[in-house]
Amino acid sequence: MADASADGYPEETRRFLAAFKQRHSLDEVEADLAALERLRVLVVGEAIIDEYSYCAPLGKSPKEGIVSTRHVRGEMQAGGALACANHVAGFCRDVHLVTGLGGEDSRKAFVRERLKANVTPRFFVRPGAPTIVKRRYLWESSLVRVFEVDFLDDTPWPAALEHEMLRHLRETVPAYDVVIVADYGHGFLGQRAATLLAERARFLAVNTQANAANLGFHVVTKYPRASYVCIDEPEIRLATRDRWGAVGDLADKVRGLLGGAAISVTRGPLGVLTCGADGTRWEVPVFSRAVVDRMGAGDAYLSVTAPCVASGMAMDVVGLVGSAVAALAVGIVGNRSAVELVALTRFVRSLLA
Ligand SMILES: Nc1ncnc2c1ncn2[C@@H]1O[C@H](COP(=O)(O)OP(=O)(O)OP(=O)(O)O)[C@@H](O)[C@H]1O
Ligand SMILES: [Mg+2]
Repeated sequence: MADASADGYPEETRRFLAAFKQRHSLDEVEADLAALERLRVLVVGEAIIDEYSYCAPLGKSPKEGIVSTRHVRGEMQAGGALACANHVAGFCRDVHLVTGLGGEDSRKAFVRERLKANVTPRFFVRPGAPTIVKRRYLWESSLVRVFEVDFLDDTPWPAALEHEMLRHLRETVPAYDVVIVADYGHGFLGQRAATLLAERARFLAVNTQANAANLGFHVVTKYPRASYVCIDEPEIRLATRDRWGAVGDLADKVRGLLGGAAISVTRGPLGVLTCGADGTRWEVPVFSRAVVDRMGAGDAYLSVTAPCVASGMAMDVVGLVGSAVAALAVGIVGNRSAVELVALTRFVRSLLA
């Protein structure tokens, strides 16, 4: 768990927090967070099972040039859109999840068991494909990743199933205050779904996750419009095909391309840049002290900040809340547990004390 007295932070962070307190009070931020409860949220995206296989090194194999490892223990987590839905469910009462599973090794019972009680899922099941599993091998002592094997079929979904999913989205999307798309680019959401969501959602928040399977082929401009874009720095560079430009300029470019959207560009240890429809940019530093595991921090940031932006929170408050969420998330191994309102409120209180 992140320790959060502002005193131990670097000068830049303390300066940011001092200036923030001149603009906003703790009561205002707490009231903003409490008001998220009434929002009805739809989360759309691929279900991913994150498997952690913890290993210990043995020694060099006598026959091959590899280091053999001993399996210590395994862990299975509900990741991808499942993790996003669980994060949102800690802040908003009514969460609907539209997600894709495979017919082979579907792990539906595990998925159901891991979803919070206030998440109502609708599963679309692709026959002949596995539910997406990302199996990471890590050194147990350091959590350093050694190797990853993904089980997935990332070709576009069969037309009949896609049609059924589009019909469900067409019928349900208008009922939700916020639609959060966690698009991992593994084939569940094609161009037709992206266009439909852009046309129908009252408030559309989008993350197009870059990963090893889709690198360079999956960028946020797949969505013709979005109310809020939340991507990391490599993702915005890929989307704008700009390696060296200033991040703020790229944020403006993407906002322009997606219809004046608000944006968060998360930058790992460099924090986040947020910008709203009025063009004011904020650079928010990280509040993380100890990083246990970075995986899933971006998803946690997206899941909590999307309702915040939809409810009209100022973009510097969004950046502060998101960075506080991320600081809690980097203290959690992968998606072992969700970020909760009580923990977040306690953390924000200590930041603004
Ligand atoms: N190394 C780090 N040190 C401190 N904070 C970090 C670090 N990495 C991430 N964070 C926090 O998490 C937030 C989101 O991280 P990042 O920009 O890496 O997202 P991401 O690439 O989308 O992650 P993922 O997709 O793996 O969930 C950052 O803005 C920051 O607050
Ligand atoms: Mg991400």
